[in-house]
Amino acid sequence: MTILVTGAAGFIGFHVAQALLARGERVLGIDNLNSYYDPTLKHARLAALAPQPRFAFEAVDIADRSAMEGLRPRGITRIVHLAAQAGVRHSLVDPYAYVAANLLGQVTVLELARALPDFQHLVYASSSSVYGLNEASPFAVGDRTDRPASLYGATKKADELMGHAYAHLFRIPMTGLRFFTVYGPWGRPDMAAWLFTDAILAGRPITLFNQGQLQRDFTYIDDIVAGVLAALDRPPAATAPEVPVKVYNLGNNRPEPLSAFVSAVEAACGVAAQVVLAPMQPGDVLATAADITESTRDLGFRPVTPISVGIPRFVEWFRAYHQR
Ligand SMILES: NC(=O)c1ccc[n+]([C@@H]2O[C@H](COP(=O)([O-])OP(=O)(O)OC[C@H]3O[C@@H](n4cnc5c(N)ncnc54)[C@H](O)[C@@H]3O)[C@@H](O)[C@H]2O)c1
Repeated sequence: MTILVTGAAGFIGFHVAQALLARGERVLGIDNLNSYYDPTLKHARLAALAPQPRFAFEAVDIADRSAMEGLRPRGITRIVHLAAQAGVRHSLVDPYAYVAANLLGQVTVLELARALPDFQHLVYASSSSVYGLNEASPFAVGDRTDRPASLYGATKKADELMGHAYAHLFRIPMTGLRFFTVYGPWGRPDMAAWLFTDAILAGRPITLFNQGQLQRDFTYIDDIVAGVLAALDRPPAATAPEVPVKVYNLGNNRPEPLSAFVSAVEAACGVAAQVVLAPMQPGDVLATAADITESTRDLGFRPVTPISVGIPRFVEWFRAYHQR
């Protein structure tokens, strides 16, 4: 009984793999270790997982059909699918990377689940980006998601739709998780916590888009991992006529103005930021806030980490990792 974790060298995949291993599961991690951001960080995450005896890793591109078919004999009964081309802004620069990883890659994962004999549950990453131009706040799972503001958001919505079709046709229990701005140790270099910490410690200015008037539901990684594992343990019932599919928001439910996030980073670094205000970025949204009614009710999801706790933990890890 092996759990396949796609994107295991990525930020969330690494933490999910670590948590699964800690509770005694057998994990097969795959990742193509691409250079969207410095692969050194991906290799360092894998090096931290490598000593675990129940962990195996293979460099596989999820868009590679035959490589994905090659995973069929590996005893996989559950999949946590986190590999993707992430990042809203980059989808304006390299749209085809999103098509390969998030559309073709999603289909190869669905086909793998379909082909596996004793398959139990596919949990996959969606995103708060599916809410796009939705104006009601906080974002509830039932809100409109047919007006994406970026190609990234559009591919994540497509993942949910393709998932629904496969759950319906092949009765594959499936859970989509809409993550809201995740941060924490081993985090991504293209995201705010890293960019601000890096610049503030180096004495470089930081850029705040939309003149700093943005709100994000910053969610600490340990809270997200608890939600992923709770979802994995609760596959939707595969009894007809219900389609065995669920979608949940996993967010902090405590949206913060960007200025509060910057203040937390300044406090943890012990250095004041030099701030440059800039206009809104194309594809971005003004505010994200998660309505977590369903995830709390069904998964017992309760984020407990405020930025006053999570940011110092991130900065401590960042300093140790960079020896700064
Ligand atoms: N971090 C967030 O705030 C956030 C928010 C919403 C959704 N998500 C989603 O959560 C998932 C994990 O995100 P993350 O923050 O850990 O990002 P990440 O970029 O750190 O991790 C993704 C991993 O997938 C790998 N990958 C990309 N394309 C691949 C391919 N074709 N084949 C195999 N591996 C491939 C990358 O090398 C990377 O290691 C993604 O699906 C992302 O879209 C993340």
